Amino acid sequence: MALSTFDLISDLHADFWLDRYPTVDHFVDELLPEEPSKVLVIAGDLGHLNSQNERLIKSFKRIYDQILVTFGNHDLYLDDYSERCYFDNNSGNRINAMKTLFRGIEGVTVLDGSCVLIDGVTFGGTGMWHDFSYGATLGFSESYLYDVWQVCMNDSNLIFPTKSRQDLKGFFEEELTKLEAIFEQSQVIVTHVGPDAASMPQMYKSSPVSTFFYFDGSNLLSRAHNKIWCYGHTHSHADYHHSNGCRLINNAFGYPRERLQAKIRTIHL
Ligand SMILES: [Fe+2]
Repeated sequence: MALSTFDLISDLHADFWLDRYPTVDHFVDELLPEEPSKVLVIAGDLGHLNSQNERLIKSFKRIYDQILVTFGNHDLYLDDYSERCYFDNNSGNRINAMKTLFRGIEGVTVLDGSCVLIDGVTFGGTGMWHDFSYGATLGFSESYLYDVWQVCMNDSNLIFPTKSRQDLKGFFEEELTKLEAIFEQSQVIVTHVGPDAASMPQMYKSSPVSTFFYFDGSNLLSRAHNKIWCYGHTHSHADYHHSNGCRLINNAFGYPRERLQAKIRTIHL
């Protein structure tokens, strides 16, 4: 039988939550819908510590046959001295270690320029990144945005090695290449950073800082038609159709102080 639903969450930020619960299972159980689907999609930002992320995924595996994960910017963070030493000041080492941990859990797939076919539905994705392309559509220069990014975004301090302007562009181009490689055949696209800022509240739309939460995905969206595109990064829920027919969904969980009170959402295909 063809897959008819999947479940969606992002931005769990486990390091802000797990200490508040007796066990990781208590936390996970609070997130579950009444009738969980077979597949859970997590659109990035599990948390700052691989060990916590592994416990989280193993707890979800009590419920879900298949878990599809893409990485967010916080999954690249090395936010204390011991983490930086352990991963040799290289966020790439942390991601590779997390991939190795997840490969050891049956039914878990990392979407990193890859796709997976489950009961007739192809899911594909990668983390994606903000490359200042959305800021350019607002008329900001790249050099100005880079200066703002360095001052305002934790990414510039907690992702190692610190990204130069050129590194950022290179990183984005790699992500875009990965996404293009799986785009056509994927019915459900999963990225951490979203391709379209249409759902952003008007009051934030002209801020240069807001431009670090999206990329300009207009070219991809023009080819997305009947796809479903799941994303996170902005802790702001959305579910709407782009003019070209693509359905864009954000179901971020977020930080305790935000009180979003999100649960895992069931998406009907
Ligand atoms: Fe994020």
